Amino acid sequence: MRLSIPVAAGLESVVKKQLYSLGYGKAPAENGRILVEGDWEDVARLNVFLRSGERVLMVLSEFEAATFDELYDGFYAIEWERFLETDSRILMDGKSVSSKLAAIKSAGGVAKKAIIRRLADKKSRGRQTFSENGARTVVGFSIFKDRVTVTIDTSGEGLHKRGYRSLAYTAPIKETLAAALIDLSFYNPEANLEKPFADLFCGSGTIPIEAAMRALRIAPGVNRDFDFAHWKFVPQGALKRAKEEARDNERRGETPKIFASDISKEAISIAKYHAKRAGVNGAIEFAVRDMRDFSSVLTHGVLISNPPYGERLSDEREVAALTRDLGRTFFALPDWSAYVLTPFKEFERRFGKSADRKKRLFNANIECCLYTYFGKKPEIDQ
Ligand SMILES: C[S@@+](CC[C@H](N)C(=O)[O-])C[C@H]1O[C@@H](n2cnc3c(N)ncnc32)[C@H](O)[C@@H]1O
Repeated sequence: MRLSIPVAAGLESVVKKQLYSLGYGKAPAENGRILVEGDWEDVARLNVFLRSGERVLMVLSEFEAATFDELYDGFYAIEWERFLETDSRILMDGKSVSSKLAAIKSAGGVAKKAIIRRLADKKSRGRQTFSENGARTVVGFSIFKDRVTVTIDTSGEGLHKRGYRSLAYTAPIKETLAAALIDLSFYNPEANLEKPFADLFCGSGTIPIEAAMRALRIAPGVNRDFDFAHWKFVPQGALKRAKEEARDNERRGETPKIFASDISKEAISIAKYHAKRAGVNGAIEFAVRDMRDFSSVLTHGVLISNPPYGERLSDEREVAALTRDLGRTFFALPDWSAYVLTPFKEFERRFGKSADRKKRLFNANIECCLYTYFGKKPEIDQ
């Protein structure tokens, strides 16, 4: 099967690396997605283990369509009777870029008509009224330059929904992006579990929770459900096996050095609750603290944060002052590295130093920059 993993802009290389470490070496990236060949065991593993991909889609067909008739024919030609039941709840999810078929709602209607017709012809002797109260199947179709790619979404809910984040606090970062920031950093608990890690603006806890899950090797999808597990044509047990593999791989009971703090008491109580739900509460040291008061005797740590911008601190002057003070906190830790994700254009000037590396990323569709500052390297004994 051809599997397609949509990836947020800027994260292609991170997801490719994650795929590589899961054993998928051949994974070309194109137009915001990464392609992988695999069977249902792979679908299950990718859904359970992948930290920064958005979903796992199964590619059913690719064809040219510049008219509704061509779209209908292309959809009708797919063997839907292999993938759908007569009671499947079919949801259409389409997008069109630089194509003649731009009216996406109408295109979705035509495509669904073709699916129903095909199911009626092949599965219900012409009967075309289906209850749609069975398992959900999201049929995706993206039209790019008149070429249609048709997929079914094996994940269901996006992969960022790990299941632990049930309460809301100001502007949480997506779990898939948080996991990617960790993979873009020097924090590598596989190589060194003792390396300190801190998020000084942890809010609902996403970044330190993702770091702790990484450190304890807790797979992101181990506690959630996926749409494919409800499809009758999928071999039984694939998800169970992937989750067993994930649980066998965990190293619970370890104590990585992960620190999470926030100025808000409410945020910390929410973050603690989420950490408990994620099974990592013992692995994170939480504190209610202004980031200005952070210091550490530990060396060569990694700071990763997305400080407030445009939520409560809407005043640019306040953001500027906070950025200046964050710089002071950071420069007092000369061998630590910092990774700060923010849309604040004046960040470097206010922080007090040009970044060693900059990467353009999107946080909730807002263009941001990941400003990276490398700390002093550890001295190697001769
Ligand atoms: C954009 S949110 C962080 C969201 C977080 N990454 C998450 O996923 O929930 C920024 C956070 O910074 C906190 N904050 C604002 N000023 C602060 C300060 N001076 N020191 C520490 N935390 C602060 C806010 O309470 C808020 O939770």
